[in-house]
Amino acid sequence: MGSRIVIDPVSRIEGHAKITILLDDLGEVSDARFHVTEFRGFEKFCEGKSFREMPAITARICGICPVSHMLASAKAGDELLAVEIPEGAVRLRRLLNYGQIVQSHALSFFHLSSPDLVLGHDSDPAKRNIVGLLAAEPEIARSGIRLRQFGQEIVALLAGRRIHASWVVPGGVDEPMKAEARDHLRAGLPEALRTARHTLAWFKRTLEAHQEEARLFGNFPSLFLGLVAPDGGLEHYDGRVRIVDAHGAIVADQLPATRYSEYLGEAVEPWSYLKFPYYKPLGYPGGMYRVGPLARLNVASHCGTPEADRELAEFRQLGRGAVLSSFHYHYARLIEVLFALERVGEILDHPDLLTPDVIAHARRNRTEGVGCTEAPRGTLFHHYRVKPGGLLTWANLLIATGQNNLAMNQAVLQIARHYVQGRKLTEGMLNRVEAGIRAFDPCLSCSTHAVGRMPLRIELRGPDGAVLDELVRG
Ligand code: MG
Ligand code: NI
Repeated sequence: MGSRIVIDPVSRIEGHAKITILLDDLGEVSDARFHVTEFRGFEKFCEGKSFREMPAITARICGICPVSHMLASAKAGDELLAVEIPEGAVRLRRLLNYGQIVQSHALSFFHLSSPDLVLGHDSDPAKRNIVGLLAAEPEIARSGIRLRQFGQEIVALLAGRRIHASWVVPGGVDEPMKAEARDHLRAGLPEALRTARHTLAWFKRTLEAHQEEARLFGNFPSLFLGLVAPDGGLEHYDGRVRIVDAHGAIVADQLPATRYSEYLGEAVEPWSYLKFPYYKPLGYPGGMYRVGPLARLNVASHCGTPEADRELAEFRQLGRGAVLSSFHYHYARLIEVLFALERVGEILDHPDLLTPDVIAHARRNRTEGVGCTEAPRGTLFHHYRVKPGGLLTWANLLIATGQNNLAMNQAVLQIARHYVQGRKLTEGMLNRVEAGIRAFDPCLSCSTHAVGRMPLRIELRGPDGAVLDELVRG
C-alpha cells in the first residue's frame, strides 16, 4: 500500500475530474490516476430516439464542441440513409468544422493555456488567467479573443441558433449559405490569418523558455491516430484512419472508420468512468495512442496548404519521425488554426459555395451506421444501430478525450514523479499537473457526457491509503 495525492477538479479544462497521486513506502510517486467521476449514461439515454434527431440531441452533450457531435452524428445518419450527400453540403460541413476548430483551439490556447505559458506556472494563481494575460500581453490576448470570435462567427452564420435544432442533418445541411454570410467572413479572414501567423511566430520564440515543459509534460513514445485524406494529407472532416508509431512509421493506413471496433478496444478500469481505448493489435495498455492536433500532424503526410505546409516542415524538426511531447499539442494547435483559416479562404472562394443543392433526401436504408470526424480534440466516432423505423436500439460514442485517457494518465505520472516532493502538495506542482493535462485540451463535458465546466481536486495518499494532503480548485 502506498500514499495518495488527489487533485480534484482540474481547473481551466472543460468538464469535471480528479487526480490521485500514490506514494510508496519511501515517499516516491508510485502511480498517478486521472479519474473522471461523473457519468450520465448518455448512450443509454439515446435508445429509442430517431437517428434524425440525433445530431441535435448529441449537440447537447457539450457546450464546447456541439458542432463535432452534430457532424459525427449526421455522418452516421448519412450511413443509415446510404446516400452520397451533395458536394455543396460537404463543402459547408467542412467550413463549419473549420470554424469549430478555430474557435475551440483559440479557446484552448489563449484563454486556458497561454496564461501559464506567459505568466509561468509559479505565478499568482489569481492572475493566471485571460485577465492576467490581457495585462501582460495585451496584443496576444486581444487578438486571440477576436480570433476565437471569428471561428464562432463561422459557426453562427452557418448553423446560427440551430446548433441545438441542428443545421447539419442526415443527408446534408438544412439550408444553403447566404451571400451576406460569405462576404462577412471574407472581410474578417485577413485579420484572423494575421493573428494565426503572429501567434505562431510568438509561440515559436517562447519554445526555448519552455524546454522543461517539453521534456516533462507527457513526453513519451506512443501510437498516434487520426483521419487522413486518400493521399495521406491532413483531414478533419472525412477520410480514413491512419496510425503511426513513435518513429512516425505507418502502422496501419486507410482503415475504414466504420470498422473501428475491429481495431480499437475500450478497456474499463474500476477507478474511472472514462474508458481506455487502445489499438487492439498491440493489446492493453500497450496499444496506447494519442489523438488530436499533435496526432493529426504526426499522422499526416502533408497539410496541403502553403503556409501550414511550411510550418509542418519546421514542426517536424522537433522529433525523429513523430513529435512525442504532449506539450507540443499547443504548437500543433496553432498550426491547425493557420491551416483551417487557409482552407476557410479556399472554401469561401469556391464558385459554387452558395448552391441551393445541399441535401439528399432518402429513407433509412441500413440499420447500422458509423459517423467519424476530427473534433478539435481528436477523432470522434458515433455508432448507431436502429430499428427499421429509424429508432435507435443502441449507440456507442468514442470521444477524443477517452482516446487520450491512457496518455493523459501517463503524462500525470511523469509530471508527478518529477515535481512531487515529500508529503505536501505545492501550488506549483498542482499547476504543472493541470497544465500537463490541459495540453491535451480534454473535453470532460464530452467524456462524462455531462454539461458544464470542470473543477479539479488533487489528493496525495500515503502507503496505507490515508490522505496526506489535498488541494481543491473550481
Ligand atoms: Mg462509448
Ligand atoms: Ni465536448
